[in-house]
Amino acid sequence: MRQDTRVKLEIAGVGHSYGDLRTLSSLTLAGEANEVIGLVGPSGCGKSTLLELICGLQEPIEGKIAVEGNSASEERLGRCALMPQRDLLLPWYSAIDNAALALRNQGIGRAEARAEAATLFDRFGLAGFEAARPAELSGGMRQRVAFLRTLIAGKPVLALDEPFASLDAITRAEMQEWLAAALRADPRTAVLVTHDVEEALYLCDRVAVMSGRPGRVVAELSAPHPRAEDRDGAVTDPGFVSAREQALRTLHQTLRGS
Ligand SMILES: Nc1ncnc2c1ncn2[C@@H]1O[C@H](COP(=O)(O)OP(=O)(O)O)[C@@H](O)[C@H]1O
Ligand SMILES: [Mg+2]
Repeated sequence: MRQDTRVKLEIAGVGHSYGDLRTLSSLTLAGEANEVIGLVGPSGCGKSTLLELICGLQEPIEGKIAVEGNSASEERLGRCALMPQRDLLLPWYSAIDNAALALRNQGIGRAEARAEAATLFDRFGLAGFEAARPAELSGGMRQRVAFLRTLIAGKPVLALDEPFASLDAITRAEMQEWLAAALRADPRTAVLVTHDVEEALYLCDRVAVMSGRPGRVVAELSAPHPRAEDRDGAVTDPGFVSAREQALRTLHQTLRGS
């Protein structure tokens, strides 16, 4: 059968459990090349688990997960970069060495990895902070280092787990604009988990709403102005406001139903 090369991500009828705890059931979701898909759903419905499944860190008990047409876990692992829910910067490493870690893990030497990370520091608003330890950086800067580390490995698919959850509202809005610009400059296929429906609709092309555990996709909404340069203009647009209300209604129904 011919592969559709535009389909980067295929999740079909996936189920998962941790022992007796059923986490996902009949979950289906697809992503095309350079599409950013938002994932919202109640706490504990299996969003982080789904990202680990996509990235090949776990296996489904039923159904199929394929990344660029490959379903073996090591193939998925090689094609996906995960930014985990907690910012896992190593406290004793400088910002540049934290950022370069993904390259070091691929067997690239320290000097070369640092040089490559350094070229991105300016673009990520981190110039001058190469030698700083994570504790010396602001929350937004730490998230940018963690994101740089996710991006630098050059994987075609990004899995971003609540990247801005720990930030205050103003920093969060700034980081959303920053991520939108980063994805405009360097488009990737991405799955972004967030609790914030507005964030999902602003950053993503499409937002999948998940049910309570066992999680499955119960609705998909397309975003009216994905990654618009003018964030404030985009989120106050009537089309955006009605998409947000629809998403919230679906989420509330989901919560009541589970
Ligand atoms: N390693 C694990 N072992 C057993 N249960 C887990 C493990 N990780 C998560 N869980 C449980 O699985 C469910 C789904 O977790 P998770 O995927 O983290 O949900 P979400 O990210 O949507 O909040 C939760 O009930 C959680 O407590
Ligand atoms: Mg989670």
